[in-house]
Amino acid sequence: MTEEVLQSGTREARSHKATTLPLTEQLVGQLLDEGVGTRIGTRTGSAIGTDFEFDVAIVGLGYVGLPTSLAFSAAGARVLGVDVSESRLEVIRSQRADLVESDRDRLLYALADPGFVLTSDVSDLKRAAAVIVCVPTPVDDHLVPDLKILDGACKSVVEHAVAGQTLLLTSTTYVGSTRDLLAQPLVDRGLIAGVNINVAFSPERINPGMDVAHEEVPRVVGGITPACADAAVKLIRTYTEKVHLVGSADAAEMTKLVENTFRAVNIALANEFADVAQSLELDVMEVINAASTKPYGYMAFTPGPGVGGHCIPCDPHYLLWQMKKARRSTPVIEQAMNAIAARPGRVVERVRRILSDRDLGLHGARILVVGVAYKPDVEDLRESPALEILEGLAEGGAVLAYHDKLFPTLRLPGGTELFHEIDPLAFAPDLVVLHTAHTGVTLNWVPQSMPVLDATFRQPHAKNIFHL
Ligand SMILES: NC(=O)c1ccc[n+]([C@@H]2O[C@H](COP(=O)([O-])OP(=O)(O)OC[C@H]3O[C@@H](n4cnc5c(N)ncnc54)[C@H](O)[C@@H]3O)[C@@H](O)[C@H]2O)c1
Repeated sequence: MTEEVLQSGTREARSHKATTLPLTEQLVGQLLDEGVGTRIGTRTGSAIGTDFEFDVAIVGLGYVGLPTSLAFSAAGARVLGVDVSESRLEVIRSQRADLVESDRDRLLYALADPGFVLTSDVSDLKRAAAVIVCVPTPVDDHLVPDLKILDGACKSVVEHAVAGQTLLLTSTTYVGSTRDLLAQPLVDRGLIAGVNINVAFSPERINPGMDVAHEEVPRVVGGITPACADAAVKLIRTYTEKVHLVGSADAAEMTKLVENTFRAVNIALANEFADVAQSLELDVMEVINAASTKPYGYMAFTPGPGVGGHCIPCDPHYLLWQMKKARRSTPVIEQAMNAIAARPGRVVERVRRILSDRDLGLHGARILVVGVAYKPDVEDLRESPALEILEGLAEGGAVLAYHDKLFPTLRLPGGTELFHEIDPLAFAPDLVVLHTAHTGVTLNWVPQSMPVLDATFRQPHAKNIFHL
C-alpha cells in the first residue's frame, strides 16, 4: 500500500457494500457451459460484501481523467487518482496542471481533502468500488489506432479487479473495446460482467479550455448487460443526474465516434466553404454568421488551418480502421479526414504565394507564427497543425519564430527546437501567420506594411490581412 493510500481512512466511513447483482441468464448459462461456474461462486462468496476504501478510482489523470476525478471529488466521493506517470502526479500536486478555472479551484480543495488520493500504484485499484479508465487512444504515423496504452491500462484493471466493482471505460475507442479489453479478459479471473462485476462504457465529452460545469454535460452510458448499465448509471449519478442510457456498451462507444466524426466532416465542409467564398470574393465568416441565425437545421463550424488535439484528428480513424477490416466503404468520412490532413500544407503554400507576390522566396524569409496550441487557451500541442506548418516552412528554408506564452519552447517533428519570442516585433518578421488566437492576444503591434496570414478567419478586414 502506498503512503498516499494510507491517508484515505480519515474520512467518515460510508457504506460501500456491493449489492447482489442480478444474473443475466443468457450470459451466465453460456459461461456455465464453458465451465467457469465454480470460479463465479468462489469470487462472489469472498469479495461481494467487502467495504471499499474509495468510491471511485480514475485511471489516467490527463485532460479527461483529472477533471473527472475532480467532479467526483466535488460531489463528495472518495477518489483514488491513478497515473503511471510520476511526473504527471507531481504536476497535479503542485497545481501546475492545465485546467479551466473552476477545476483549478476544485483541485485546491481536493488536494486538501484526505479522501482525494493520488498514486502511481495500479495494484491499489482493488481498493475502489468503481474504476474509470481515461487513458489516451492515439493513432500511429500511419493513422492506425495505437491501442498499446489502452490495452496496458485495461490489463492492469483486469489484473486487480475484484468482485463487486463497477468498471467503466471512457477512452474514445473502436466499437467492441469494452467487451474485448475488459469483459472478456475478466472471465479468466472468474469475474463475469453482470454477475459478480459490472462493466460499461461511457464516452467522455470534456472540452478542454471551455469552462462548462461537468454536472451540466449529459453522459451516455451503455453496459455489457442491463445490470452493468444500472451500476454505471448509479456511479455517474454521483455527480450528475444527466444520464442517457443506450442499449449496449457498443452503442455507447459508437456514440462518441459519431459525435467526433460529425465534427470532423463539418470542419472539412467549413474549410471547403472558405475556399468557395474566396473564389467568389466573399467573406466566409460573414456568410457563416448569417447562416447561424437560422434557429434550426444549421450548426456553425468555422474554417481554419487544420485540426489538432486528441480527438478530431484521431477518433474518426478508429471508425475508418474498423470499417476497413469489415470491407465497408466510408467515402464521406475518408474524404473529410484527407481534406483536413491536407490543410496545414495549404497554409505553407499560401505563405509561399503571399511572399512571392512581394518578390520574396520562402528560403530565408522571416516568419512568425502567433499561437501554436491546437486551439485557444489550452496548453496542448498534440496534433497541432502549427507543428506541421512550422515543419513545412522550415523545410522551405524559412527563418522561424513563434509567439505563444503557453509554450516556452517547442520541438518540431524533424527535431528543430524553437523558442517563444516574447517581443514578436523584435524578430522583424517578413510575414506573420495567425494560427491560434488565445484570449487577450492581439495583432495591434503589427505595422500595416507587414502581411498577416489569418488562418483563424477572425481578423477584421485590412489591406495586409490575407486568408487561406
Ligand atoms: N482531450 C480531450 O479533449 C478529450 C475529450 C473527450 C475524450 N477524450 C478521450 O479521453 C481519453 C484520454 O484522453 P486525454 O486527453 O485525457 O489523455 P492525456 O494524454 O491528457 O492523459 C492520459 C493520462 O493517462 C496516463 N496513463 C497512461 N497509461 C496509463 C496506465 N496504464 N495507467 C494509469 N495511467 C496511465 C498518462 O500518464 C496521462 O497522464 C482518450 O481516449 C481521448 O480520446 C479526450
